[in-house]
Amino acid sequence: MLSKSPKLTPARIKAFQSQICAFYRHSGRHNLPWRKTKNPYKILISEVMLQQTQVARVLRKYPEFLEAFSTIETLANAPLSEVLRVWQGMGYNRRARYLRDTAQKIVVDFKGRIPKTEEELCALPGVGYYTANAILTFAHDESRVFIETNIRRVFIHHFFGNKRVATGKISDEEIKLLVEQTLDHENPCEWYYALMDYGTHLPRVIRKNPNTQSKHYVSQSTFKGSFRELRGKIIRILSEEPKTLIAVKREINNNSRTKEALDALIKDMLITYEKRKYKLA
Ligand code: ADE
Repeated sequence: MLSKSPKLTPARIKAFQSQICAFYRHSGRHNLPWRKTKNPYKILISEVMLQQTQVARVLRKYPEFLEAFSTIETLANAPLSEVLRVWQGMGYNRRARYLRDTAQKIVVDFKGRIPKTEEELCALPGVGYYTANAILTFAHDESRVFIETNIRRVFIHHFFGNKRVATGKISDEEIKLLVEQTLDHENPCEWYYALMDYGTHLPRVIRKNPNTQSKHYVSQSTFKGSFRELRGKIIRILSEEPKTLIAVKREINNNSRTKEALDALIKDMLITYEKRKYKLA
């Protein structure tokens, strides 16, 4: 499949880079707080937060989280219930546990220093190839190859247009070959910021989402009424005090999936069940 990605001419690379950079100069989000730091701990927190949550929400939570857990040691020593309490409103609560567990591992195995290789980073709980490479790029100015949803959108729109609908879906491996060819090795951080901002802005202009052509595209189920929303509500309810099944059900209007959600939260080690009551882990 890799051979499907075209080898780009220098002129095409230049034209692409100029277009993205021009957009970033006049419409880029230059004031995002996580773009003003090189601290790998702060970058780890922001990248994990930004994975599944919108920028506007992260902008509110990021300073609050860093105030509560200002160092990796504070986060490592915090009870999970406290981390979950601060995390409230972000959704995907598993990420809060991963962050706390990752902090513990870094304190124990790396004397509190965030590792600097992709392999070591990827061995941390909840850290995948994207987060590892984003940290290496944004904290250490390494020009790494990575994509996330906004970057994927830019490359599909720009280099594939609609022409691949008939020939099959586009893989991330193909896109990464294009990312590699167009990377700005002098200013990798700015280049990735520009790509992300352009990709965020694109759907508003072209009124469609090029990512539907991606092999990895999964349509987002809406949050309202979803299982994920139910899980979040339960965490919120249990952060007040431990509760019985009946009490939890009463507070969420007897949602028929309550027991299923409680079991899933236990499986993810976010809550426990003791003496007939559920409580935060
Ligand atoms: N800047 C750095 N990382 C980012 C991300 N994941 N989303 C938006 N802006 C960012």
